[in-house]
Amino acid sequence: MTQRYTFPGAAVITGAGGTGIGAAVAKGFASTGCERIAITDLNPSSLDHTRAAILASHPQIRLVVKAGDISDETFVEAFINEVVGVFGRLDYAVNCAGILGEALRTTETSTAIFDHINNVNYRGSWLCSRAELRQMVKQDPLSSHDPNRAPQRGAIVNVASQLGIVGRPSAPAYCSSKAAVIAMTRSDAIDYSDDGIRVNCVCPGVIETPMTTYNEEARERLRPAVEIAPMKRMGKPEEVADAVLFLCSTLASFVQGHALVVDGGYVIN
Ligand SMILES: NC(=O)c1ccc[n+]([C@@H]2O[C@H](COP(=O)([O-])OP(=O)(O)OC[C@H]3O[C@@H](n4cnc5c(N)ncnc54)[C@H](O)[C@@H]3O)[C@@H](O)[C@H]2O)c1
Repeated sequence: MTQRYTFPGAAVITGAGGTGIGAAVAKGFASTGCERIAITDLNPSSLDHTRAAILASHPQIRLVVKAGDISDETFVEAFINEVVGVFGRLDYAVNCAGILGEALRTTETSTAIFDHINNVNYRGSWLCSRAELRQMVKQDPLSSHDPNRAPQRGAIVNVASQLGIVGRPSAPAYCSSKAAVIAMTRSDAIDYSDDGIRVNCVCPGVIETPMTTYNEEARERLRPAVEIAPMKRMGKPEEVADAVLFLCSTLASFVQGHALVVDGGYVIN
């Protein structure tokens, strides 16, 4: 029998503004029938773009839309509290907000740049995970999820990177911040298995988003990385979103603490 995703619960996506991976995830939840979606991003106008795109095709969806900085503990706590206040629960959480930073070797990297990258990518993902887990542990699993599978109290997907697994020149702060996200994912997966919560991450390769294509120089900088991967092309944000949706869904009911690489084969070469 062919199974398909069902998302009867409430979803939250960080870094959901614009046309990147988070926006593709938010639209993916909408098009697969999730009717309670919360989105956040640092950039209010790009967040509004995602809000408008979702409502244009799915006007029935209840949205919580709040701009803010995920490295700010006060914002993260207020945002998740608001989501739970409106939706009553939180079932799927996708921690996608992140920054790449300039191409710099360690000796060229200031402490401020190092801290900024880690504050957003690692500390921000941890702040969001903590707030999401605090809600998930105290709610009942949804009875409307697939009754033939183990109950799911919540599912978290962190967006790490292939660069948390392999190195790249001139990106030590970014690579280490993403390795930290993978390690955090595994630890949380162990700690919350008994609660019926699954925690996984995706590790995208080079994906065609504003982060990688903001100008021709950025595209050129990434050309060698694209050529290394056997598939020799950039991935689409929707190709990462599909992996994220799978991990959030009960089709992945036995997938725990996994770092799912979505990279056209980059790390196997
Ligand atoms: N594009 C790639 O090739 C690639 C590869 C591997 C991993 N990733 C990861 O995927 C995630 C999404 O990136 P993307 O490629 O879609 O890029 P993107 O720039 O389109 O999306 C990132 C979003 O995060 C938001 N953001 C940045 N700092 C924030 C903060 N402090 N608080 C809240 N929001 C913030 C940005 O405004 C942006 O909308 C990131 O974590 C990135 O590191 C991307």
